[in-house]
Order: sequence, then structure tokens, then C-alpha cells
Amino acid sequence: MKGRVKVTVIGAGNVGASCAQRLAEKGYADVVLLDIIEGLPQGKALDIKESGPILGFDSKITGTNSYEATANSDVVIVTSGVARKPGMSRDDLLITNQKIVAEVTRNVVKHSPETIIIVATNPVDAMVYLALHESKFPRNRVLGLSGVLDGGRFATFIAEELQASAGDVSPCVIGEHGKSMVVIPRLTTVKGIPLTKLLPADKIARLADRTVNGGAEIVALLKTGSAFYAPSAALVEMAEAVILDKKRLMLCAARMDGEYGIKDTVIGVPVKLGKDGIEQVVELELTSEEKTALMNSAKAVQELIGVMKLTS
Ligand code: APR
Repeated sequence: MKGRVKVTVIGAGNVGASCAQRLAEKGYADVVLLDIIEGLPQGKALDIKESGPILGFDSKITGTNSYEATANSDVVIVTSGVARKPGMSRDDLLITNQKIVAEVTRNVVKHSPETIIIVATNPVDAMVYLALHESKFPRNRVLGLSGVLDGGRFATFIAEELQASAGDVSPCVIGEHGKSMVVIPRLTTVKGIPLTKLLPADKIARLADRTVNGGAEIVALLKTGSAFYAPSAALVEMAEAVILDKKRLMLCAARMDGEYGIKDTVIGVPVKLGKDGIEQVVELELTSEEKTALMNSAKAVQELIGVMKLTS
């Protein structure tokens, strides 16, 4: 019998350590937490491990600075890189995080050639493209954190406004995980009722705008880093859909191979997540206005990809 699945989290900072904690508490995965800082992943892993007897989980959790410990991981979550400071956009992180994600991907692939990679490092759409490029994996095995988080933010604001249960909101946010993100109120529902029937257009526009700037709102409040509770929750839901072969429809960053008329670019779209990673890219029926917004979003990501100057 195969034991628990193995999940590696690269980067033991705010997002990575929160992922490791949430995963360990789920109980179905052994977790390896890796960072370049000596002692950091070991210390955080030990601390999480010591919460096991209190909470009643037995997952193994290992902190390490070496990729040997990550060998044959089923899923790898990449959170290594710098986070935003107030006034910075996700794009400002591009070149610094490019170097980190390229190196990390090469190491991950060397030790776990069959794994599925979930990228959190920003700007995430470009980083997913980079991880695909470095790993040479098929597109189903590399995806990124976008709409699950952005949709979570939109759903929070909608639930607050309507005094409804957040879990009843099914948000639709696609495109870049950045300024050109495409919030689609027409396809956002509360238990099947379109949002456009529940709130006036100006109110919806304000909530959509707050969603697009949702990450920056947190950065401005924290001052020393960026969001990590909601991002780690989203990452673990995505990993869980893969690990438990849930076939969940989730909004994730994926490479387009002609879907939505877009090629060779990564954007957020609904995908079916199961044991093979992205098992299907779902094409929503969009209005011409929504299509234009998505095209502009894809162009914004394409520009970032161009800046990385990737060579084959
Ligand atoms: N290999 C492994 N770990 C690395 C590397 C590397 N080459 N380079 C940096 N790290 C580690 C850092 O040592 C740090 O512990 O990545 C961690 C990043 O943690 P934080 O600074 O706390 O950043 P965090 O808030 O977790 O965000 C990480 O996720 O959401 C995105 O925009 C965010 O790109 C950022 C990333």
C-alpha cells in the first residue's frame, strides 16, 4: 500500500509556511518545507510538527535546505521569491523572482520528474510560463494561483454587501492575476442567481475594483509583506483537488493552447483539477466586451513574458 502523498512546499516564508501548516493539518499528506535560509524551514517544520499531538494529526513534516528530501513529491507548491512592499506592483518582482523560480524549477524537476507544480510566486502568470519553460513539462502539470484567490476576495466583498453566506457565492474572475484581471459579474452567482440581478452596476463595479486591488489593499495594511492566509488557503484547495482527484472546476493560471483564441500565454481560466493536474481547460461563453478584456489581459502577460527573454 502506498502511504500518504508527498507534498513539497518551496519557500518557508509567510505563504509557504502557512501552506505547510494547512496541509499538515489535513492529515493526508507528508510535507517537506524547503528554503535557502538555514534553520528557517527546520524551525517552522518542527513547530508545526509539535502542533500534531495537540490537533491530532500524524502527517510527517520535514524542514530542509536540500532538494534530496523533496525526491518523488506528488505535488510541489512554489512560493519562493520576494513579496511586494507598499507601492510595488506584482510586475516589479519579475526579474528577481525569475531567477529564483528558474533555479527552483530545475531543482524540483531533477528530484521529482513526475510531479505537478503549483506556482504562487508573483507575477504568477509569467512565473507559470517560466516554470513550464524550465521544466519542459506538459501544460497539465504546471499551474498557478490566481482566480481561486481573486474569486475568494470578490466573494468576500459580495457576501459582506449582501449580508449573505460567502460560501453561497460562486465568483468568476479570469485573466491575469494582476492589474488587467477580468472580473465577470454576469457569470458570478449567489446560489444560481446572477450577481447582476442582486446589486446595482455601480456597486458591482466598486466591488470588482476592490477585487482587482485586493492584494495591494493587504500590502498597504501590512506594510512589511503581502497576503498569505487567503493565498495559502487557495493553494491548499488546489493541491487537494489534485491529491484527492476531485475533478473540481477551479479558476487557475494555465497556458492557453488556442483556447479563447489565445496561444503561448498563461492566464487564469476555469480548469478541471484532478490527479493529472489540469485535466481540462473550460471555455466560458464570453460577450465581445469580456473577450476584449481577456485579450488585453493576455497581452499584458505576454509583455511580461517578453521581458524575461527566455531562450530555449
Ligand atoms: N529557494 C528557496 N527559497 C527561497 C529562494 C530560493 N532560491 N529564494 C527565496 N526563498 C525564500 C525566502 O528565503 C523566503 O523565506 O522564499 C521565502 C519567501 O517568503 P516571504 O518573503 O515571506 O514571501 P511570501 O509572503 O511567502 O510570498 C512569496 O508568493 O504570493 C507570492 O507575491 C508573493 O512572490 C511572493 C511569494
